[in-house]
Amino acid sequence: MAAVQADSLSAVLKDRLPRYPLPVALIGRLAVDGRCRGRRFGETLLIDALSRVVGIADSIACVRVIVDAKAEGAERFYLKYDFATIEGEGWPRRMFLPMATVRTAAGVSL
Ligand SMILES: CC(C)(COP(=O)(O)OP(=O)(O)OC[C@H]1O[C@@H](n2cnc3c(N)ncnc32)[C@H](O)[C@@H]1OP(=O)(O)O)[C@@H](O)C(=O)NCCC(=O)NCCS
Repeated sequence: MAAVQADSLSAVLKDRLPRYPLPVALIGRLAVDGRCRGRRFGETLLIDALSRVVGIADSIACVRVIVDAKAEGAERFYLKYDFATIEGEGWPRRMFLPMATVRTAAGVSL
């Protein structure tokens, strides 16, 4: 679990959010061995991680899933799954997915 400042999300969402830091799930260091890339293992790992977040999100506060994309390739990968970039400049790119999208992606009905 991690926390993000609401201001950084408000800028992207154009939503009014509470002024205190928001609890989020951070997927860190998701990676596939270089010899096995392009075989959908990354997608499988991501969906597995999102499913685990859905499993705990109703028990502990969790309003978004966050990733820190450490390279352009990682950002492109996450963009495919509808992650939105929070900060426009610099690396790593912090990106997020709303819980409703997480539930859909994990195959769990809303
Ligand atoms: C990013 C990473 C996890 C993707 O894993 P992977 O097993 O190669 O990806 P998949 O085979 O599951 O690909 C799923 C989809 O993402 C796309 N994709 C994967 N890597 C991509 C990249 N670098 N750029 C653009 N699209 C990419 C694939 O084309 C595929 O799209 P499709 O549905 O249109 O066919 C892997 O390349 C990796 O470990 N990279 C190095 C570490 C890293 O950047 N981790 C991210 C956290 S910082």
